[in-house]
Amino acid sequence: MKELSFRRHRRLRQSAGMRALVRETVLRKEDLIYPIFVVEGTDVKNEVPSMPGVYQVSLDHLTEEMTKLEERGILSVIVFGVPNEKDDQGSEAYNDEGIVQRAIRQIKKDHPSLTVIADTCLCQYTDHGHCGIIEDGEIVNDPSLTLLTKTAVSQAKAGADIIAPSNMMDGFTAAIRQGLDEAGFTNVPIMSYAVKYASAFYGPFRDAAHSAPSFGDRKTYQMDPANRLEALREANADVEEGADFLIVKPALSYLDIMREVKNETNLPVVAYNVSGEYSMIKAAVQNGWLDEKEVVMEKLLSMKRAGADLIITYFALDVAKWLDEEG
Ligand code: PBG
Ligand code: ZN
Repeated sequence: MKELSFRRHRRLRQSAGMRALVRETVLRKEDLIYPIFVVEGTDVKNEVPSMPGVYQVSLDHLTEEMTKLEERGILSVIVFGVPNEKDDQGSEAYNDEGIVQRAIRQIKKDHPSLTVIADTCLCQYTDHGHCGIIEDGEIVNDPSLTLLTKTAVSQAKAGADIIAPSNMMDGFTAAIRQGLDEAGFTNVPIMSYAVKYASAFYGPFRDAAHSAPSFGDRKTYQMDPANRLEALREANADVEEGADFLIVKPALSYLDIMREVKNETNLPVVAYNVSGEYSMIKAAVQNGWLDEKEVVMEKLLSMKRAGADLIITYFALDVAKWLDEEG
C-alpha cells in the first residue's frame, strides 16, 4: 500500500520526554502571587467559609504564614487589609498605622526578600462598601482619586514594593503615579487592575474582605462583561497613564481579553484567578467530582497560554508544592 503522507501529530506526543521537548507554555513558581487577608486582633486565624483553605489572619500569625510561602519558593504576596473601623471616607485605608500598613511593615521587616504588593482600594474601609466615596448617592470619581492617592502613598511609606490599585475610578493610575512621584516614590511600580469586570465571581472575596457594597452594585465603575473593545481602551489608557503591569480580572471567563491585552500592549500582564474561580473548584473537589491538582494546573496553564505573565491565585501554595513534587 502506498505510504500515507498526512501529518502525524502524534509523533510529538509519544513519550513524556517528547512532550516536554515541544511544550509551549510552562508554569513557574515565580509566576505566582499569593493573596493574603490581614485582620486586627490577636490569635485570629479564621477560615473563610466560602473559600476552604483561605484564612484571615492577625499580625501575630502573619510571620508564620510568610515563612510558609518563602519555604515553598513563592516570591510575592498581595495584601488585603480588613479593618475594624469603617466610615464614609474610608479613613483607615490611608491611616499610616492602619492594619494593612502595619502588615506591610511587618512582612518587609521579617521577610525582606518577599515582594509585597498592596491592593489599593477603599471598599474594605468604607461603611457603604463602595470603592470610592459617595456624594448625593453617587460614587464620585475625582474626590475618590484624592483618597486613593493618599492610600497608595501611605502603603508605599509602609514599605510596599508595588502598588496595585483595584478601584476602577477613571484616571486612578495617573493620579497615583503623580502622588507617588511627589512623595519621592518614583521607583515604586504600579500594577494596575486596568481591566476589571463587574463580576459575580468576586462573591467569596467579599466575605473574606468584608467589602460587599451595602447598596447597589459596582456596575457604574467596573466593566460590563459583554465588552471587549472597552477593555482595550481601559488597558491603553493605563499604559499612557504610566502603569507598569496590567491586571485582567477575573481570569477564566476573560481569557480572550487577556490574549488581546497581551497582543496590544507591551507590559507584563497579570491574570487574577479570583475567589469565585477558586471556590468553584474547591466545591467540586470536596464532592469528589474533580481532581484538584489536575484541574488547577490545567486552569493556570490556560491563563499563561492566553498571555498572562503572572497569576494572582489562592492556589499559589498548592501549586508550588505540586511543582516541587514533579521536580
Ligand atoms: C476590591 C477588590 C475585589 C477583588 C480584589 N480587590 C472585589 C471587588 O471589586 O468587589 C476581588 C478578588 C477576588 O474575588 O478574589 N476592589
Ligand atoms: Zn474596591
